Amino acid sequence: MSSKKSKKTTKFTDEHAAVLQATHKPSTAFSKNARIGSMAAYEKLYRESIAKPEVFWAREARELVWRKPFSKTLKWKAPDAQWFIGGKLNVAENCVDRHAAGTRKNKAAIIWEGEPGDKRVITYAQLHREVCKFSNVLLARGVKAKARVLIYMPMIPEAAIAMLACARIGAVHNVVFGGFASEAILDRLEDSGATAIITADGGWRRGKVIALKPAVDEALKKYHKIKHVFVVKRTENDISMQPGRDLWWQDEMETASAKHEAEGFDSEHPLFILYTSGSTGKPKGILHTSGGYLTGTYSTCKYIFDMRDEDIYWCTADVGWITGHSYIVYGPLANGVTQLMYEGAPNEPDFGRFWKMIEEHGVTIFYTAPTAIRAFIKAGDQFPEKHDLTSLRLLGSVGEPINPEAWNWYYEKIGGSRCPIVDTWWQTETGAILISPLPGATPCIPGTATRPFFGIDAAILDEYGNECPPNVDGRLVIRKPWPSMTRTIYGDKARFHKTYFSDYPGIYLAGDGARRDKKGNFWIIGRLDDVLNVSGHRLGTAEIESALVSHPSVAEAAVVARPHDLKGQAIAAFVTLKLGYESSEDLGKELRDHVGHVIGAIAKPEEIHFTPVLPKTRSGKIIRRLLKELVTTGTISGNVTTLEDVGVIELLQKLLKK
Ligand code: WT7
Repeated sequence: MSSKKSKKTTKFTDEHAAVLQATHKPSTAFSKNARIGSMAAYEKLYRESIAKPEVFWAREARELVWRKPFSKTLKWKAPDAQWFIGGKLNVAENCVDRHAAGTRKNKAAIIWEGEPGDKRVITYAQLHREVCKFSNVLLARGVKAKARVLIYMPMIPEAAIAMLACARIGAVHNVVFGGFASEAILDRLEDSGATAIITADGGWRRGKVIALKPAVDEALKKYHKIKHVFVVKRTENDISMQPGRDLWWQDEMETASAKHEAEGFDSEHPLFILYTSGSTGKPKGILHTSGGYLTGTYSTCKYIFDMRDEDIYWCTADVGWITGHSYIVYGPLANGVTQLMYEGAPNEPDFGRFWKMIEEHGVTIFYTAPTAIRAFIKAGDQFPEKHDLTSLRLLGSVGEPINPEAWNWYYEKIGGSRCPIVDTWWQTETGAILISPLPGATPCIPGTATRPFFGIDAAILDEYGNECPPNVDGRLVIRKPWPSMTRTIYGDKARFHKTYFSDYPGIYLAGDGARRDKKGNFWIIGRLDDVLNVSGHRLGTAEIESALVSHPSVAEAAVVARPHDLKGQAIAAFVTLKLGYESSEDLGKELRDHVGHVIGAIAKPEEIHFTPVLPKTRSGKIIRRLLKELVTTGTISGNVTTLEDVGVIELLQKLLKK
């Protein structure tokens, strides 16, 4: 019988609680070989790094290749940070050239598996050739430094090559997750002012070809600044190509020169924009720059994943998210590691796919998300049990708080009770991991991301700005700047300032609730704002609501999250229809599909409740807190004093009982 079943039939006792909350210390063998091998070593370096963050970060930055050394480490006048001033570097040179020119030349940089089972191995020397060639393609087609390039790709090596080529020539990439729809592409094109697009004829997902080019074509009907669309041929999918504008990647590469001299760009040269959901309005274009971002991702890979030349590292994220940027492309490659990259779904052909790949490729470090782990638990232990997972030495988790059940399953079934788990807390805005265990030092307790990384001055504040005592919930903040922090919301400095640095002047507000225990471990509780976390993906209630309201039948919509076994949170939508429209199951389905069309499948509400009224304050603000309580518990007992019409509650409760 699987452990899952036995847990379900037994009562939860103190013994269970003790197992779930047990402290797991790294083994002596792991600690002995780790870069940071004890808590004493962590504490010492942490204290030094907080006393003088600039000394720590400058030391880390100097492990990169600089075309021109920086003369000053930090200039900070909130909310404006500048790191490694006067320095010039080329990010792609750091990720590729320096390995291709040295002993890692013939080492695999990327071992790739397509979903159908096709495989490719790309060495650092080959990656260098490809990146140089595509840099020349971009230049020949008029893409210049600082130009914005939208990348909309499946998980194929060309995605990384495209990003690195942009970085190499100083163009600013904006990767858009392949699951997003054409309107999301259009929004990002308009906001970033992109002039080129890199995409593919499709990619494989769950045994099917997901077309990408049609969504690009659709967006380009309304956006006319694109000079070229580069299209990788990945599938035999039939797509339309507009002559002159659309170019096949493979054709362009055939004649391109593999010689390209990397130029040094200013440390603060923009590297990429990545859009992420906020609590209000349209997604925020989070801007990251070069020297600081690379230093942060490089250093965290080195210490937190303890990357070594012998490792086969695998991060299961998509390049469309920040995790794919920082922990597939930039951080691991800057460390010269070998990594596995996978195109498709975790359950194709079945839930054994990941474990089979770990066995076959001898993966040593595995980084995934709690939502995936929960799906694996549900699928059953028979899948991992079929495979030899003893190559693994370190596991990681990211995206949301990992529930202790998932943590323990991951630890035992995947890690063989042998591998430390680094529960890494960070955000699109932070660029790199800020709170995490160090695998050879930190005792892990399921559910806590434990301690801040070097140079990270994390704290929990109350609403007045005072530090909360141990075990008291408050808001997570970072009090000192760090190199990989976002520099602005693209084109909207005022929003940047207001969102992150105005509640506590000069202090970064992460938007998460958290507490710190007596030992100094940080426990992340979840978002404080109207941001949902569905399967580790960030979605704003406002975005989904505005997608709903864009449907002709909808007058008003309110979106909230309810706890969900697999996804962490599921989306529940309350919809008021315009006069003349009637609620029906069909309309519910149509609305779900409509949201899928506007934003992407991940944003489709799990449930839609039609209601003639929504709970509002006297000033007309929707009170989502009440709706959230309603979908979570089935009733409303919370404070309703601000409600404009108390009758609404009764009505909604009845509605949900139906
Ligand atoms: C939000 C950031 C960072 C890459 C993936 C998500 C939540 C992330 C953890 C963790 C608890 C976590 C937070 C954060 N989050 N990692 N280890 N424990 N919560 O990036 O889309 O920018 O979302 O994800 O709520 O604010 P993102």
